[in-house]
Amino acid sequence: MKFTTFTLLSSLFQAWAQVQAPAPAGLGAPISSVDRIYTGDQLSNTITVIDSSTETVLGTISLVSERLSDNLNLQYVHSINSHDLGFPRDGKYIVSLSVTSNTGTVVRTSDNSIVSRVYVDRNPHEAFFAVDNRTLWVGTRGVDSIALVDGLNGTNIEKIPSYGGLGKVLFSPDGMTAYGNHIRVPSLGIIDVESRKHIANTTGLAHTFSSDMILLADGKMLCNSHVSRCIISILDMGAETNHPNFRWVESNNLRVRHYGINESTRVYTQPDPEKPPTYVRSILSTDVQPRGLWSNTDNSRLYVVNEHSDTVDVIDLQNGFRVTKTTRVGQEGQTRIYVAGVGLEGSTDHALLSYNNAAQNKTSSALVTIRSVMGLDMFQVIRGNLKLNTIYDRS
Ligand SMILES: *[C@@H]1O[C@H](CO)[C@@H](O)[C@H](O)[C@H]1NC(C)=O
Ligand SMILES: *[C@@H]1O[C@H](CO)[C@@H](O)[C@H](O)[C@H]1NC(C)=O
Ligand SMILES: *[C@@H]1O[C@H](CO)[C@@H](O)[C@H](O)[C@H]1NC(C)=O
Ligand SMILES: *[C@@H]1O[C@H](CO)[C@@H](O)[C@H](O)[C@H]1NC(C)=O
Ligand SMILES: *[C@@H]1O[C@H](CO)[C@@H](O)[C@H](O)[C@H]1NC(C)=O
Repeated sequence: MKFTTFTLLSSLFQAWAQVQAPAPAGLGAPISSVDRIYTGDQLSNTITVIDSSTETVLGTISLVSERLSDNLNLQYVHSINSHDLGFPRDGKYIVSLSVTSNTGTVVRTSDNSIVSRVYVDRNPHEAFFAVDNRTLWVGTRGVDSIALVDGLNGTNIEKIPSYGGLGKVLFSPDGMTAYGNHIRVPSLGIIDVESRKHIANTTGLAHTFSSDMILLADGKMLCNSHVSRCIISILDMGAETNHPNFRWVESNNLRVRHYGINESTRVYTQPDPEKPPTYVRSILSTDVQPRGLWSNTDNSRLYVVNEHSDTVDVIDLQNGFRVTKTTRVGQEGQTRIYVAGVGLEGSTDHALLSYNNAAQNKTSSALVTIRSVMGLDMFQVIRGNLKLNTIYDRS
């Protein structure tokens, strides 16, 4: 029985000679010293590189200057606001999207050198390499198309129309189908990779704005959406939910999803793919505003970047879902293939202010983060259920 399952998965994954996470149980290699975790740190405008075997920071790739310094007059070829990261299946490159300069930067993972840098289109948000390990499909939220770019020579190849500000592209395990989420329409675009044409459109998602999405390792399920193109369930995760992820367990699929303002990662299980997942537990973050999360290839660890304390939590998924290590990374981490802030000076402080709001019958909150940036104190407020033009009194 076990052998049959493995054979089936192997054939599904034949394109994945190098198995990357998220991977089904038994196919990914254990943690090794040649694996890396990268974080995209948008404020310090860096990519932090972590050795996954020691969970220590190896170094920081700088995309020139901090975000604030170049906002008003971007210098010539600078790339600003290192947001999300993607990679090809052979693991030879990573791509970083710079939301402010509208550029993509491809870095060779063997020596951390920059291979190409390309001007894409308005607001490139997330990108992944297609199965040829070369063509980048870039979600450009500011326009109504997907940008196809040659990641190695840095040229724009084509634009595939997709109405509604497409934010991210994911590929099926066989690489033949692409999925794109949007920020202005509650729909998921399904595209045939070879012909570069839309073949279906899953409508009726819970909200027009999809912050992120993830495909189950066997390609059969997308968080909140089914590959059979119907919606199984809509989960109410509360304010500031971002970056869902799946973790494959032999007997059932554990779906791990992060819950922002509440500072925890929520874990759901879904033994029957046709039924809604059920809540298992919450894993409290050691720091503020968990955002990006990604597991390793053998599904034993989960790495969660805490956006407002500039750290990464390592969660041991085999021994009690405990946070076993917290590592300092670059400023304002957005994503979950990690880069850390070695050599970055300055402190980060934060406070979560909560108010009981009887009129709205819910708790309102304000997360305040203060960081030292270029000799100044940067003051940032993230609201949860706060209404405009309302005075909140902390009693
Ligand atoms: C892309 O990388 C994967 C994993 O290493 C490999 O199996 C596949 O053959 C590569 N594709 C091409 C077109 O080189
Ligand atoms: C870059 O690669 C694309 C194919 O992906 C090719 O069409 C184009 O000619 C190449 N451009 C340069 C300058 O090499
Ligand atoms: C998908 O559906 C949305 C909402 O109904 C629509 O606005 C959009 O144009 C459709 N996209 C495609 C590619 O058909
Ligand atoms: C935070 O999550 C915990 C565990 O799920 C829950 O008990 C609590 O009510 C949540 N707090 C808020 C403010 O939503
Ligand atoms: C407020 O929330 C409580 C608990 O969820 C609920 O029992 C109550 O009916 C709500 N009141 C209003 C006015 O919505």
